[in-house]
Amino acid sequence: MTKVGIDAIEIHTGKLRLDLANTFAPAKGDEPEKYTKGLGLENSSFPDTYEDIVTMGANAARRLMERRDLTPQDIGRIDVATESAFDNSKPVSTYIAGCLEQVFDGDFHHANKGERKFACISGTQSLDDAYNWIRAGRNRGRSALVIATDTALYARGDAGEATQGAGAVAMLISEDPDLVELSTEQGYGSADETDFLKPNQQFPSVDGKRSVQVYLARMREALEDFESVAGDTHPDDFELIPFHTPFPGMVRKAGLLGFRHMIRDTNVEEDLAGDIGRQPRREAFDSDDAFLDAISEYTDRLKETDTYREWYAETIDPTLNIARQVGNWYTGSVHVARASGLKHAYENDVDLTGKRLLVGSYGSGAQAEIHAETVQEGWEDEIAAIDLDEQLAARYDISFEEYERVHDVHNHDKQAEDAEEFTNPEDEFVFDGWGRMGERKYRYVE
Ligand code: COA
Repeated sequence: MTKVGIDAIEIHTGKLRLDLANTFAPAKGDEPEKYTKGLGLENSSFPDTYEDIVTMGANAARRLMERRDLTPQDIGRIDVATESAFDNSKPVSTYIAGCLEQVFDGDFHHANKGERKFACISGTQSLDDAYNWIRAGRNRGRSALVIATDTALYARGDAGEATQGAGAVAMLISEDPDLVELSTEQGYGSADETDFLKPNQQFPSVDGKRSVQVYLARMREALEDFESVAGDTHPDDFELIPFHTPFPGMVRKAGLLGFRHMIRDTNVEEDLAGDIGRQPRREAFDSDDAFLDAISEYTDRLKETDTYREWYAETIDPTLNIARQVGNWYTGSVHVARASGLKHAYENDVDLTGKRLLVGSYGSGAQAEIHAETVQEGWEDEIAAIDLDEQLAARYDISFEEYERVHDVHNHDKQAEDAEEFTNPEDEFVFDGWGRMGERKYRYVE
């Protein structure tokens, strides 16, 4: 069977940076460690006044097409995943295609364009759509462009304000990919939940503490579903496990529960039994409460073992490096986590060709999905080409007063006209005001 997967990837970060420990925490009266240690975040990225989900997505896609020497004729689908759309009818992909047509010869008139919505998981769902389209033989040799782009802003004063972010990930999905092949096997955990939603409003209504529990519950269901088709998982099976990362502290919780699940009835559980006992089994307890207490105590002991710590340091921690610097990018977040893990391996001369990843996506509302990926031969060149370090270093460090201004600029109810920009746009698409039907307009700045 032909391999299908991610052929190329490009990342665009919002060009502003909010330092959480040194700028945000003092203004909120919080200890910096709540951010750096508890949530695991150092900086959030924000869009400058001339950036939005279209410019960020189009800038990532343009770089990807240029680097791979692609023309619009090579692309048969453009799917945008976002939860920050500003139009209930016209999809963001049409705006992005319009931008790209300003700089590439030809057009995307024969490409199928759409927009996917299911909170943060829709980026992965768009990968699925592209995978299925290619597998079905409908692609005519062409590739799909999947763009996950979001401005993850919360209302001022909301607890989620600590985990904001903005950026886009563009991915090229092709036959015989250079980066990773996607597994056909996948598992779902999906239920009608009200942990995070935006009922026709820009900023989310969030039950933050509950959203953490729902994430863990759905992820567990998805892992069990994945194992029902792909067989039991073992910690040694996967070099990296990128998770959806609303903030690294969330993944710390998911990683521990995932490890506990994977080692059950394995040599790892046996090897650890002398020190921390075997995992409690439900049938040995009279009540759910007694069982939950016992499993919670076991998990606390497991967390302190060298076996777990070493596995976490190698398999999970590298996937969080970028998130620490940019915050939550919603639909792009799990794809940033994958890139982060691969980048770390590349920088440390780890050969991943042929090795496997387990990827855990999540969207509130709520659904988790788990699939495996196999790293392809061209992965090092692909990862080396991403210029994210330069982008991160070039971000403008905003003061708290500037943060308040930027938040207002991107607040649809305020829409401050002629707000002064913090950085100078260069070789990129910028927002260029509104048209006569209320559409947003864009232009390319040399
Ligand atoms: N030193 C070290 N750790 C500290 C600390 C300090 N001084 N102060 C707080 N912390 C820790 C807390 O113990 C907590 O960690 P834990 O959950 O492992 O116990 C963490 O930092 C966050 O602190 P908390 O008081 O829970 O923060 P909060 O009430 O502001 O809410 C969220 C955190 C995640 C609920 C909130 O940011 C939110 O609603 N985010 C948006 C929704 C979201 O991202 N959900 C995730 C699933 S999609």
